[in-house]
Amino acid sequence: NWTPDAFVDSTVAQLKEQLGEDRVILGLSGGVDSSVAAMLLHKAIGENLYCIFVDNGLLRKDEFESVLDSYKHMGLNVKGVNASSKFYAELEGLTDPEAKRKAIGKVFVDVFDEESKLVENAKWLGQGTIYPDVIESVSVKGPSATIKSHHNVGGLPDYMTLKVVEPLRTLFKDEVRRVGRSMNMDPNILNRHPFPGPGLGIRILGDITADKVRILQEVDHIFINGLKEHGLYEQVWQAGAMLLPVQSVGVMGDERTYEKVVALRAVTSVDGMTADWAHLPYEFLQEVSNQIINRVKGVNRVVYDISSKPPATIEWE
Ligand code: XMP
Repeated sequence: NWTPDAFVDSTVAQLKEQLGEDRVILGLSGGVDSSVAAMLLHKAIGENLYCIFVDNGLLRKDEFESVLDSYKHMGLNVKGVNASSKFYAELEGLTDPEAKRKAIGKVFVDVFDEESKLVENAKWLGQGTIYPDVIESVSVKGPSATIKSHHNVGGLPDYMTLKVVEPLRTLFKDEVRRVGRSMNMDPNILNRHPFPGPGLGIRILGDITADKVRILQEVDHIFINGLKEHGLYEQVWQAGAMLLPVQSVGVMGDERTYEKVVALRAVTSVDGMTADWAHLPYEFLQEVSNQIINRVKGVNRVVYDISSKPPATIEWE
């Protein structure tokens, strides 16, 4: 009979035994999974857990600073690393979704590797891999069957000779949240929607520039804040905005405009493997659309994605 309390007790005991006095390095993403994995490891080995939180320049607006603060409040031994410019440089001119994922994954591994070398005698790499990540990765069988190369699963470079410890490997997302709650973790972190490792990088269709990131951060911020203010955030499983590589004609006063289009996406789901588009109230969508078009320079049209998964995926890339 599975309970979060029992899971925490048995996992912490098992981690203590497995890790002893060893040092563990863990990459925090700001998401539920890596944060809960870190907290379990922190309970087991305390200061021997070294957390690294990388700013890839593709996070949500102000997210790096605010999440780093919450981690410090949780007592985690965490180092924030701003590597935005390295990511933007590697991404320059890339438009293919898988090429973008690979570039982001590569820079992440490079930055992470550099940082992990600063932690002497580290023996383990902690990861927040959960059960659905394990199955989706196993189902990737070759070029024709490639779904997505989730950069946070497997694919470690040879020179990273750390053993992997993944305390959440058997859990679904809702169980991870329950485990976090039983450790009294910050609800802002626990109730967070899932966010892909490549971040806004796969929500900007086509090539990525710092300017496009800023536009999408503003749009996303208005949408997500709106959901929170209207009590809708916790009713959807995941939400975000996509910046489309097309321009559309509009009017502003007497002027004809020719500017960017954004698509809003919100879904209900249990585990992300299948999903339905969220039936958000029209009045809400209208308000958010007006705010986006009025406040975000460079955007003149907002559309709402009404596709379910399958066949559409949650992300557009
Ligand atoms: P899709 O788009 O495949 O997304 O329906 C399912 C869930 O996975 C997330 N996702 C990713 N997460 N690296 C990640 O860490 C990725 O490359 C990636 N692609 C999609 C997506 O946000 C959703 O929660």
